[in-house]
Amino acid sequence: MPSVLIVDDEPRILTLLSSLLKTNAIDSVPARDGTQALKALEDQTFDCIVSDIRMTPMDGMELFRNVRTSNPEIPFVLLTAYGTVETAIEAMRLGAFDYLTKPFKIDDFLTVIRRAIAYKNVVGNQPPVPTTAANTRFDHVIAESEAMKKACEVVKRVAPTDATVLIEGESGTGKEVIARALHENSLRKDKPFIAVNCAAVPENLMESEMFGHIRGSFTGATTDKMGLFEAATGGTLFLDEITSLPLALQGKLLRVLQEQEVRRVGATTSMKVDVRVLAASNARLEEKVKANAFRQDLYYRIAVITIDLPPLRERVSDILPLAGHFLSCEATRGRGEHRLSREAADILIRHLWPGNVRELENAIRHAVTFADREEITPDLLPPRIVSSAANNPTPVIASASVDAANECYRNQSLRAFLREKEKDYLEQVLSKANGNKEKAAKALQISLATLYRKLPESEASPLPTEQE
Ligand SMILES: Nc1ncnc2c1ncn2[C@@H]1O[C@H](COP(=O)(O)OP(=O)(O)OP(=O)(O)O)[C@@H](O)[C@H]1O
Ligand SMILES: [Mg+2]
Repeated sequence: MPSVLIVDDEPRILTLLSSLLKTNAIDSVPARDGTQALKALEDQTFDCIVSDIRMTPMDGMELFRNVRTSNPEIPFVLLTAYGTVETAIEAMRLGAFDYLTKPFKIDDFLTVIRRAIAYKNVVGNQPPVPTTAANTRFDHVIAESEAMKKACEVVKRVAPTDATVLIEGESGTGKEVIARALHENSLRKDKPFIAVNCAAVPENLMESEMFGHIRGSFTGATTDKMGLFEAATGGTLFLDEITSLPLALQGKLLRVLQEQEVRRVGATTSMKVDVRVLAASNARLEEKVKANAFRQDLYYRIAVITIDLPPLRERVSDILPLAGHFLSCEATRGRGEHRLSREAADILIRHLWPGNVRELENAIRHAVTFADREEITPDLLPPRIVSSAANNPTPVIASASVDAANECYRNQSLRAFLREKEKDYLEQVLSKANGNKEKAAKALQISLATLYRKLPESEASPLPTEQE
């Protein structure tokens, strides 16, 4: 049975989490602070450590630093409250496995723990390679929101490993951008990155496409053909829309991942391949497993690490920086320098972006195409976006933030400004909803968890395992 070390200064939480793990066939040992945890580590080894941040005498960060030196192979998960999230992100930069923001859902807790345990089994005793800003390449990934920053931290941490990564998110949220960043920041970066859209290949050709075939193995196979696995040798194979993979092929893919060998259609022998696999899905793959549309064993193999990209409407702080980024991309393409008017920026902030980042990119291109002067005004934006924004009662943003977006999309003061605005607005909506968080979350069109994450600690519920 896997075993987890739980470190928290609240006895209530220790009891709750350990009984939760027990009912899920996971052993646990409780510790009240970092010192007790280090003692427990002297006596036995663990598959995962979960630790609160604020504790005395030894807090979660100090414990983490200790464990990084003494037991770097054990995945470390931090429990954070509002206000310690920055600390948790810093810990991830140094190699922590993940963090959960209190209050969290029981399901999310179990998922993170199971992944941490699976990660330890797969990655084995190799500690994650800590990376620094100097040797990572994220030039083209815009990440201002907390969710995107977290995604980038996971990318940095797992890129150098060969772990399989599942990237989940609605269409246009940037799954391929993240897959490329994983490749670019890995030791495989000089080898091929091959993306295959599983939904675009006809079912009867899929096996030959992925694994190749030999001449005469089926009608139309007039020559030997190399499959994508072979073509990606030494590099990365990105299986986009993995849910579209037919069940029969799911079994074959599982074998390839387990044995690191492929067999061309019609061949009698297999050959070794050295390929790192990344996968993406628009739908929750776990749900497909529950509906028996996706093999569970393959799911576990693929979802060792999962990166979740929230829809753009849930990370409003990314909108203007992305718009600025796309404007500068257009300028690089020789389409001229442009900047957003305050009203245009206001519309971008209000729109809910069902097509996510891709829709935003298209809107900026559209505007630049029709622009005959430097300033992008609302009349240049796609009319659909302008009218949908009119129905969304987000407050108007001040011109200062637009100037900042225009001048420099990574501007620190812009970020602080938006955070401040967001806080004001949250408070406004909350008081309108008479403090009812569920109502407020609905009005804001964000999840309750997101609302909690954004609230000051004093306003969030003190019970971290509360079901939402
Ligand atoms: N964080 C980001 N920074 C910069 N550009 C981004 C970012 N996220 C997405 N984009 C851009 O938005 C567009 C859509 O991104 P991408 O193709 O990665 O989405 P996707 O999730 O794979 O979509 P689909 O599910 O439709 O395949 C691309 O042109 C990409 O360059
Ligand atoms: Mg894609």
